[in-house]
Amino acid sequence: MGKMSSSKVNRYLALKHIAEVANSTSSLKRIFNSIASSTAKAVHANGCRILSLSSQKEYLLTVGTHGLSDLYLKKGPLNAHKSLPDILDGKVVFIADATKDEKVQHPQIAQAQGISSIFGVPILKKGEASGEIRVYTREPHHFSEADRGFLLSVAAICAVLLERAELYQFLEKDYKASKLRMKSAQISPLPTASLRPTSFAHPSEKEFAKLLDFYRIEWLYEPRSFPLKWENGGVTAMFTPDFYLPELDLYVELTTLKQSLITEKYHKFRRLKELYPEINIKLLNKSDYLQLLAKYGYGPLGEAKIEGVNRVLYSHTQIQRKVRVLARRISHDYAGKQLVLVGILKGVICFMADLMQHLSLPVTLDFMAISYYGGDGQTVKITKDFDSNMTGQHVVMVEDIVDTGMTLNYVLNHLSSQNPASLHVCALLDKRARRLIDVPLDYVGFEIPDEFVVGYGLDYKGQYRNLPFIGILHPELIKEDESH
Ligand code: IMP
Repeated sequence: MGKMSSSKVNRYLALKHIAEVANSTSSLKRIFNSIASSTAKAVHANGCRILSLSSQKEYLLTVGTHGLSDLYLKKGPLNAHKSLPDILDGKVVFIADATKDEKVQHPQIAQAQGISSIFGVPILKKGEASGEIRVYTREPHHFSEADRGFLLSVAAICAVLLERAELYQFLEKDYKASKLRMKSAQISPLPTASLRPTSFAHPSEKEFAKLLDFYRIEWLYEPRSFPLKWENGGVTAMFTPDFYLPELDLYVELTTLKQSLITEKYHKFRRLKELYPEINIKLLNKSDYLQLLAKYGYGPLGEAKIEGVNRVLYSHTQIQRKVRVLARRISHDYAGKQLVLVGILKGVICFMADLMQHLSLPVTLDFMAISYYGGDGQTVKITKDFDSNMTGQHVVMVEDIVDTGMTLNYVLNHLSSQNPASLHVCALLDKRARRLIDVPLDYVGFEIPDEFVVGYGLDYKGQYRNLPFIGILHPELIKEDESH
């Protein structure tokens, strides 16, 4: 057997060690940290970090590190579109000088931390990036082809580990939840991180994270540290808020009941607000955060009934975003025209109210009400007709949800008989799997699986309309005596 160079031996030993660690029973955090450490050493780097992409592919979350300061690690949420995005496109990226390269998201921090070169490779799962490995050096460094090959092998092992982490998270849920989840398997995963912190510093943080998950409010755990004090050019005190909620652009620090800790925390908190007046942060104890969520219509203090709602399908923010997109498209298509928006009471009220406020057109409104009768529930009867005649008008029929398509078909026929100048349909939700009559939908918000949904105007036995989000209802989870 030929003689191997010492760096070849190093890489071989590192890979052997990494393979063993990957197959050990340690916690994932430990495994990833150990991999980061072996990786850095094998390629003569000073630091390494392993990142996982959040399931909405918006953020990069650190899952393992070696040799990097807390300040560098917590320099703020790493936006996947801004922080070396080429890596996520599947490319290997080399930055010779991180303090000068425009691809680096926080160059001033790289400089303060004495980071010079960065080498990054993607972690690929079925050809798509699910994370990355980055190594850092203090002195300008050139990485070899062999380093690149080595890092890509480590990335392949990390890909398997990240997949295992996701599977583990899925299985961890209790039996009932996972059973329901399987029923609605077509639904996209939660918008939060695909790999959660394996341990929270405090149980209240875990509880808060669970609550945010339920309401599909995206969160990042401790993504940024704020330096509060400096001495001799070094940072001597920092503040790291527990959570960042990107949708609300809000940092949240949870407080405990221990008075001694609270006093110190308040002090730091005030200093933080003085130094960083532009950031939005709240110090919350449990009743505060329930109140905060209630303000957005969520949680046990919210007025709306949520019993039986197994999970949130679309959060308030997601709905608002979609409504704005639909309104923009309608405004564009009908530019220069006067529009009549028509809807069927009562389910459409939230959608109609939001949609019309974002239309940059002159609009009028009209409503009809119908009731279903007959044993099969399929026969429709108009209990209140439209007030005006639609002849010669440009009409957009606004629908909350299209299920079998019976209702829409019936109302479209009714409207057509009045000879409008044009007639199109805008539906927020399309439950296509259950369609019996093929009705043309011109504008669709979300295509949803075959589940019964409530909230944002939609009801079950008259309830739930006032929920600010759209949730999946499992009537069997409603306690008998409270169902009316
Ligand atoms: P379709 O005639 O079967 O298309 O159903 C239309 C009406 O049924 C909608 O306007 C809703 O009032 C109701 N509906 C259908 N699916 C749901 C649901 O998942 N939640 C609440 N109401 C629904």
